[in-house]
Amino acid sequence: MRLFDAELLHGREILPGQWLQGYRAPWLATGAAPGQFVHVRTPDWSGLVLRRPFSLNTIDRITGEVTIHFRVTGKGTDLLARMHPGDSVGMLGPLGRGFEIDPRSRHLLLIAGGLGMAGVRCLVDEAIATGRQVVVVFGAATAAEVYPSSLLPDEVEYVVATDDGSLGHHGRVTDLVTGYEAWADQAFACGPEPMLAALARLARGRDGRLGVARLGRKGGVRAAPLGSAQARRASWLQVSMEQTMGCAVGACLGCVVMGVEGPQRVCREGPVFAPDEIAWPESA
Ligand code: FES
Repeated sequence: MRLFDAELLHGREILPGQWLQGYRAPWLATGAAPGQFVHVRTPDWSGLVLRRPFSLNTIDRITGEVTIHFRVTGKGTDLLARMHPGDSVGMLGPLGRGFEIDPRSRHLLLIAGGLGMAGVRCLVDEAIATGRQVVVVFGAATAAEVYPSSLLPDEVEYVVATDDGSLGHHGRVTDLVTGYEAWADQAFACGPEPMLAALARLARGRDGRLGVARLGRKGGVRAAPLGSAQARRASWLQVSMEQTMGCAVGACLGCVVMGVEGPQRVCREGPVFAPDEIAWPESA
């Protein structure tokens, strides 16, 4: 983790109110992993001091460029969207624990709801670069909010669900998952908590017969400790939690979610968890 300045290279509105920006950040691009995030402070001229957390949307280790994808929700993100190429922001990162890909996994299922695409998008490039197959299932309220397929590599199979049926499957993105659960060696999800909770219910008890658990593992493997990288890797599903953050370094407890073994700081123990680490609210 390091504090550094990152220069805006380009930015554009890819959906109403949602922006994609590329920054020159070679040091970050070298050391960051899919699922990690950065804490960004808007330029000095903005007069704002609080940082905002953003998932690393893509990481290009060759050019040193990283992208972030965000929705304009207030003054800070509005100022970010108004920046021009050549402007700089202060970044702190990489932060948090990223996704764990098992070396044996060949088929990755990525599940995103709305802006949750920003949380899993980084895995696409990583998976394709290592010869894996990727299916992305994406859910939005309407066709107008569907992530553009042009922003995904051609190798990806992209399946869409909309709440109003205006594009793709009419219903929830979680409806689509059962069609791929036997195919997927691992699944990775980011989106609203009710979506993650529904996926956690779906995945419960299936690790023994789905995913990496059936890839040539002969019996006798001891269960890894809850919360460890091995346990997350062995889980069929990993979820990236979205939470409001203050410090983003584990000090303020502003990002805590309840885990089965006590409070979990999303910025430190997460943002990626195995679903059985989280005490999901029954109503979620
Ligand atoms: S944001 Fe401060 S502990 Fe996580």
